[in-house]
Amino acid sequence: MCGIVGYVGPRPSQDILLSGLARLEYRGYDSAGIAVVSADGDLEMRKRAGKLQVLRDDLAAHAMPDGTTGIGHTRWATHGGPTDANAHPHLADDDRLAVIHNGIIENFSELKAELTAEGFTFRSETDTEVAAVLLGREFAASGDLVAAFRAVARRLEGAFTLLAMHRDQPGLVVGARRNSPLVIGLGEGENFLGSDVAAFVEHTRNALAIGQDEIVAITPAGVEVTDFDGNAVEVEPFEVVWDASAAEKGGWSSFMAKEVSEEPDAVANTVRGRVQGGAVVIPELDGLDDLFAGITRILIVACGTAAYAAQTGKYALEQWTRIPTDVELAHEFRYRDPVIGDDTLVVSISQSGETMDTLMAVKYARERGAKTLSICNTQGATIPRESDAIVYTHAGPEVAVASTKAFVAQITALYLVGLHIGRVRGVLAPEVAAAQVAELEAVPDKIRWVLEHEQQHIEQFSRWMADTQSVLFLGRHVGYPIALEGALKLKEISYIHAEGFAAGELKHGPIALVEPGQPVFVIVPSPRHSGELHKKVVSNIQEIRARGARVIVIAEEGDAAVLPFADEVLRIPLADPLFEPLLAVVPLHIFAMGLATAKGLDVDKPRNLAKSVTVE
Ligand code: G6P
Repeated sequence: MCGIVGYVGPRPSQDILLSGLARLEYRGYDSAGIAVVSADGDLEMRKRAGKLQVLRDDLAAHAMPDGTTGIGHTRWATHGGPTDANAHPHLADDDRLAVIHNGIIENFSELKAELTAEGFTFRSETDTEVAAVLLGREFAASGDLVAAFRAVARRLEGAFTLLAMHRDQPGLVVGARRNSPLVIGLGEGENFLGSDVAAFVEHTRNALAIGQDEIVAITPAGVEVTDFDGNAVEVEPFEVVWDASAAEKGGWSSFMAKEVSEEPDAVANTVRGRVQGGAVVIPELDGLDDLFAGITRILIVACGTAAYAAQTGKYALEQWTRIPTDVELAHEFRYRDPVIGDDTLVVSISQSGETMDTLMAVKYARERGAKTLSICNTQGATIPRESDAIVYTHAGPEVAVASTKAFVAQITALYLVGLHIGRVRGVLAPEVAAAQVAELEAVPDKIRWVLEHEQQHIEQFSRWMADTQSVLFLGRHVGYPIALEGALKLKEISYIHAEGFAAGELKHGPIALVEPGQPVFVIVPSPRHSGELHKKVVSNIQEIRARGARVIVIAEEGDAAVLPFADEVLRIPLADPLFEPLLAVVPLHIFAMGLATAKGLDVDKPRNLAKSVTVE
């Protein structure tokens, strides 16, 4: 939510800032802006409402002097609409200081009143400008940007990553963070700041993670990190495992298309290195058996698609660990005085590792004494650093706002965690575990089968459905969260009304929605593995067909029993029930993407959404 990039070094910075912003645009695209300290020592700034391309076009039409110190911002609007005036950077101190911000400054009204009383004026409706004016006031007093940050950061409440530079201190960019992300990229004679490593991965893979309530100052010669009181702090170096090309679109029509095609690899790479002789041994959890020793309950917290991965994983976790497992939306969790303690393992799932709702849930759980384990796709992110243990998903960078390959990687990681805990606690027979591991290892090829044999058919089918106004999705057991994910994906990128239901719940209300022609997707469990459940779902199909629904089934290849009742069949290979979701979701991702594309929509940047939501 809002992307931030900063650069100091010997090179002209505009291109570096713009390409960094292009990689961060998934975080928001309501407006974009850059500021540089030019060779003449002037502060130059340009910002425009709309996607980054609008800014690029503006700069191409009217060039701005370049400079070797710069900051850039891509916005997801919170305070104030997506206008030129509300776009970042915001200027202060007679336009000699430029500031960009990610987060929400909750006490901005009080601060604004204080500054207004002192005679300061404002040009935007944003909370950010308040921080800019405060920094300008402090800089005027001390002439030192780091000292100004120290004075200002302590006064701000809420969540912020702030970057600033001042015309009078060229070659310096200063940043501060609380509850919002910021990482440092270390170059040779140049340094970078970014909301995540994507901002600078094309220039360096050496990175430093900055802790909570810290201030960082970068110059071409080095990096200094202190706390808000000015004490030096230790920073954690890490090497970025993604290479720049992994975050490129390549020849694909969209990042989403590329990322759906990477779903098999996302599963395979997440499993890789975590299986030894048929047993799951997660190296990151080595020496952490105590974490799982006294727990009587597992609670998974997450938001959006990650929450559906959590709901899918719950079934396997409970089965393999025999520990009661619940799932809760992270934003609902901490506002209801939940019963948790040191016997609770709170597992968080987040692709970005920055979702504020999830981060706050993890912090709350820790304060209450719970043990915390984070499943995350992004190195250097905040949530893993706030957790007792981390299991990374190895899906590679996910750029499209709607999550696809991260979803299958999250389920995979949860399954690995379940098998690991089952082994450590001695409740899972080795031969049972080995059979499940074999199933998991077979998943990537089965997803490839779906992509090879069904993708074209589903894309064609989605084009026929382009005028559809509403779609329902039904599933039972592990098929239920997949129905929810299918509906969410369609809502997110095609703006069509879509709802997912537990198939058994249909008769308790939702069936009233079914009228002749209503498309309903049904995720059908395997008749071979889940005989009873299969029969129940086929009965549910009869119920909706009797009311004129147009039935689209996602069914195992060779499931003849369901054919007579289906208007359309999307096939998946046979798998053990717990592994079916990893296959059944693929046609739904392809369908949502195909339909949104047929409607001429930008599947990578759906309206109103951001990939990483760093506000509550
Ligand atoms: C946003 C995105 C969703 C994502 C959710 C959780 O709402 O638009 O696609 O599933 O955040 O993100 P996380 O990074 O925590 O997995």
